[in-house]
Order: sequence, then structure tokens, then C-alpha cells
Amino acid sequence: MLTKKRPVILTVSSANIDLTANMPYIPSAGQTLKSNYGYSITPGGKGANAAFAVSRLGGESVFCAKLGNDDYADKLMEMYRKAGINADYITEDPEERTGLALVMVERDGVNRIVTYPGANRRLSYDDTAYAMECCPDALILQMEIEEDTIIDTAGYARRTDVPIIVDAGPASKDFPLNSLGPVEIFSPNEEETYIYTGIRPTGKDSCLKACMALSKLIKAKYYILKLGERGVFFYDGLYHDIITPHKVKAVDTTSAGDAFTAALAVEYLRSGDIKRACEYANIAGAITVTRTGSFNSVPCHDDIREFAEQRDLKIKFD
Ligand code: RIB
Repeated sequence: MLTKKRPVILTVSSANIDLTANMPYIPSAGQTLKSNYGYSITPGGKGANAAFAVSRLGGESVFCAKLGNDDYADKLMEMYRKAGINADYITEDPEERTGLALVMVERDGVNRIVTYPGANRRLSYDDTAYAMECCPDALILQMEIEEDTIIDTAGYARRTDVPIIVDAGPASKDFPLNSLGPVEIFSPNEEETYIYTGIRPTGKDSCLKACMALSKLIKAKYYILKLGERGVFFYDGLYHDIITPHKVKAVDTTSAGDAFTAALAVEYLRSGDIKRACEYANIAGAITVTRTGSFNSVPCHDDIREFAEQRDLKIKFD
């Protein structure tokens, strides 16, 4: 694979408006909880978060998504452009509303999300095939759009030799993962790994078992498990390793996985070194959870450099 200082990364995925409500704890059924923890309405969606992270981390970010026929669409377009994202392949559906996510964040930063896909449902293969004309160095796919669109876009990328990086969330047990492969990287988080394999990746042995089970579902060059406060597990079919987590004070875990995948893609294409890319992404995820919100909490390249220098980490920067 050719490395590139500023790789072009196409993200084909979701765009949402996030209504984030912060609360001390999730109320139980029938309970009304008065929370003074605040709320926000911001851009979100796994795709938009990843596309912004690619741009902040130094990649050339192209985003292909579908917005609705509402005021949010114009506002989001403006924000994407301001954020340095190439929004030429984002279109609006005349009948649907822009996707919405209800994000509930508890005191310890753990979130629970419900999404209303809206226009994300209408992103079609015609849209994504057109976007592939930007000649990307890699394609990021997530699972927050329609199954057929994901599968057909992956097919196009394979035929044109574009490496595919799959962020496996949100996971659905019924998704035919084998129709995506072979891919360059397949990266689920802990819960997604469990949904796909029935194995909870809690220690080295169970992580390896889960990766072997994943390798029967989808052919990938690298399987990278995002384990949050347990770090990152890496498996290439022969060799496996765990990358230790960084101790940080988590306030909101939303979009940490999106930032992780974007960082992994950018640094892998920049350096050609998957282990370095995992370490880089591990830092990106750690920084993201220390900030509130989704789209705006993803770090930039200098944040990662600073974090590494302050903690005297062995990852070096030019
Ligand atoms: O990964 C976080 C994202 O998931 C949120 O921004 C929300 O929109 C949902 O898509």
C-alpha cells in the first residue's frame, strides 16, 4: 500500500443532529428525573463525526451522506464546510427529515443512543458510486446506513482497489458481513464484537477467540477491537497484541469510536504501519472521551502530539 502525507479518505455513512441530554443516571421506567446537567443540539452521526476527525487529523476528508428537507440540512452543510470537509457528495432528500440521535449521557460519561435514521435511509448506491469518483486512498464504512448501500459501495471499492476500513457499528447480528470482504481493517467495539460473535472480549484469550470468530464472518487483513478503558486488541491472522489504554477522566464516550476509526485510517495511510496507527487511534479515542459532545469533541493532530509528549509515550512525530 502506498503511503501519503495527506491521504484522501471518503466516508460513506450517516449524518445526524444529536440531541444530547446529560444526567446523573438513566431514569427507570415510569420515573421522571429532573436533571440540571444540561443538554445540547449539535451535529452528530457516526459518519459526520468520523469525517470531521479525518479532517482535523490531517487527512483530506470527503463525506458522502444524505440530509433531509429541513433547516438542519443547510446548517449542517455550512458546518461541514467550515470544518474542512469536502461536502460535494452530500445531497438532500426532498421527502425525509435529517437523521436524529437522542444521546443520553450519564455522570460517568457512558452513553445510550437511539437514532431516527430519516434521510440516512435514502443514501443510495447511485450517490455513493458517484462519490467514489473522488479517487479516495481509502473508504470508511460504518453500519448506520442501509445494508444494500453498504454492500454495493464495498463492492465498488473492491473492484477499484480502494482499501476498505469498516467501523462495525451499530452492529446487527443479521448483517451479512461476508458480503463486505475482503477488507483492509474490520474494527468493532466490545459490544459490537459480542453481537457479531457471541463472545465478550474481556481478556487476551477471549479477544483472540472473538477475532478468530470474526475471521470466519469477514475476511480482513487486520481485526482491531476497540475496547475502551481496556485499550485496543490487534490481530492480523497470525500475530496478536494488546495496546494498553491511557488513563483519562471520561466525561462523555460519544464519538470516541468514530474518532478512533478516523485516526486509525489517517495514520495507517500516512505511515503504512498498522501498530503505529493503533497507538495513534488509541490516543484519539482517549482524548475524545475527556470532552463533551460528539462532532466537536474529536481531537486534531496537535492534540495527539501534545498528549503523547506530555505522557512521554513511545510514539514519535516528525
Ligand atoms: O457514535 C456516536 C454517534 O452515534 C452520535 O453522534 C449519534 O448521532 C449516533 O449516530
